Amino acid sequence: MSNTVVMGAQWGDEGKGKIVDLLAERADMVVRFQGGNNAGHTLVVAGKSLVVHLIPSGILHAGKLCLIGNGVVLDPEVFLMEVDRLAAEGVDVSPSRLMVSPKTHVIMPYHKRLDAAREQAKSADAKIGTTGRGIGPCYEEKMARTGIRAGDLADPELLRRKIECALPEKNALFAFYGQPSLDAEEVLAALLPVAQRLSAYVGDVAGALQQGMEDGWEVLFEGAQGTFLDIDHGTYPFVTSSNTVSGNAAAGSGCAPARLDRIVCVVKAYTTRVGSGPFPTELDDAVGEHLQGKGAEFGATTGRRRRCGWLDAVLLREGVRLNGPTGLALTKLDVLGGLPELKVCTAYQHGDETLAYPPQGENSLAQVTPIYETLPGWSEPIEHITSFDDLPQNAKNYIARIEELAGAPVTIVSVGPDRAQTLYR
Ligand code: GDP
Ligand code: IMO
Ligand code: MG
Repeated sequence: MSNTVVMGAQWGDEGKGKIVDLLAERADMVVRFQGGNNAGHTLVVAGKSLVVHLIPSGILHAGKLCLIGNGVVLDPEVFLMEVDRLAAEGVDVSPSRLMVSPKTHVIMPYHKRLDAAREQAKSADAKIGTTGRGIGPCYEEKMARTGIRAGDLADPELLRRKIECALPEKNALFAFYGQPSLDAEEVLAALLPVAQRLSAYVGDVAGALQQGMEDGWEVLFEGAQGTFLDIDHGTYPFVTSSNTVSGNAAAGSGCAPARLDRIVCVVKAYTTRVGSGPFPTELDDAVGEHLQGKGAEFGATTGRRRRCGWLDAVLLREGVRLNGPTGLALTKLDVLGGLPELKVCTAYQHGDETLAYPPQGENSLAQVTPIYETLPGWSEPIEHITSFDDLPQNAKNYIARIEELAGAPVTIVSVGPDRAQTLYR
């Protein structure tokens, strides 16, 4: 039996949701291991589209166990809203198949307010462009060892104590940012009904994972965001607040790293980014418009227009080094159709140096100039193609060149948003 990690190789929105939904067909369990509802994973089945932010992308496959691991930060209201939305669509979201780890940290109203206040207070060039979902402040609280965890939700007295303990410091921060303070009783009163309902979903995720693996079940680990939004390896400070790289799949769910048998890095056939931060191959010309328009590049969480550019093989190479993929899933290849020529960034010029890997200094990625290689494009539509062999020769050449530059094989090619629009090799 083999377990598979699916994660993003770029700045998020690579199409992880689609790939997880596809691979979930064969798996027995799907587990989220980091991030929160800053994620927006789109699933398209028979033309019908659905976005999940917290609940694992395997949820549409009846009978599969969906787990939210300790590495996730969970907004209780968002979780329950998502549960209700899926239930209204006829999806089974009962606690018998959806479980939240007691160690998962809870996003509180003050985390969201602090996220917004900090962003607002920053100068234009320092704003991160967060999703405003309270992700950073919740992880901060986790590291400060003062956070509320899902396992606390069943204990109103413990919740009261933790909220009363947290609020004086939070209120001092709100005063600093010129915001009104929060009242502990009000925060608690709003949380209690939600807490009670959510508690039914809290269970031993790591235990279920371990037992499942012992019994020969296959597990899918669903990453959120992408490699260059990683808190350590990404374009700091323009990153998210968790480790997004494959290595965190074990720690964020509660299993041993040796259990991660296969790692699928999802790569968009070009590059996009939402929010601020350096983006060497960004295009603000007609090609950028083509990618944004044809790729429908709007954020699945905030609706923001995604910045678009050519594929950056320097970042991809670094992503391969950091994540160790056994295969790449190349998505949105159809979007490149109709462009007479395609460019791929193969190296960076950084001062006098030519770099094959990104420079490591803070924001040094903002100082590189991409060095491009040009490949011929194709004009035939490929959305309907069902076999790799039937792709236009120039599309095959593009894929072969990506494999060479990345140093990893492309094992899945996606030519449209639907489950059916997928080619396997
Ligand atoms: P995720 O966050 O990595 O799960 O990706 P998102 O769902 O935020 O963004 C990917 C978008 O591209 C979604 O709207 C998908 O439905 C869509 N998509 C995925 N694969 C393909 C593809 O191969 N072609 C096209 N045209 N769209 C795709
Ligand atoms: P999925 O899982 C794309 C970006 C935000 C911002 C930075 C920090 O759908 O790929 P945060 O709210 O996490 O503190 O914001 O990270 N970001 C994403 N960009 N896809 C995502 O998730 C993202 N999650 C966060 O835009 O630049
Ligand atoms: Mg997304």
